[in-house]
Amino acid sequence: MRILLIHGPNLNLLGSRETDVYGRETLESINQRCLQLAGELGVETEIRQTNSEGEIVDLIQSAAGSFEGIVINPGAYTHYSYAIRDALAAVKLPAVEVHLSNIYTREDFRHTSVIAPVASGQISGFGGDSYLLGIRALVGLIKHA
Ligand code: DQA
Repeated sequence: MRILLIHGPNLNLLGSRETDVYGRETLESINQRCLQLAGELGVETEIRQTNSEGEIVDLIQSAAGSFEGIVINPGAYTHYSYAIRDALAAVKLPAVEVHLSNIYTREDFRHTSVIAPVASGQISGFGGDSYLLGIRALVGLIKHA
């Protein structure tokens, strides 16, 4: 099984960015924990981070045929990117949307996810553990499909 993990904009700054909201764990540390879990689950995982919306669209499009599912934290694009939403709808791969923070307890504009209606499910509010929960959820979905 191969899965693709996509980190969207500003997540490269984790560890120093708004630590009161996102905590002090770096992206590198989250990635190591994801790779460790994926190894335990016997899943091959490719991890990408990009600040560019178009690059996320390209990654999703090229995932079709090479990966069986996607874990994605679209960052702020969550709230307004119809391009990312349409790309996920087009490839029809199971996709789990993850967020470090609980987007529903924050500013009003974060309460809407345009991605959620095309995702298999959403995990929000568990810090770096959201990614681990997302990987477990995705692998379960793929196995039981
Ligand atoms: C985020 C939540 C978004 O609202 C925000 O723009 C981010 C990070 C999260 O992981 O909590 O960049 O996706």
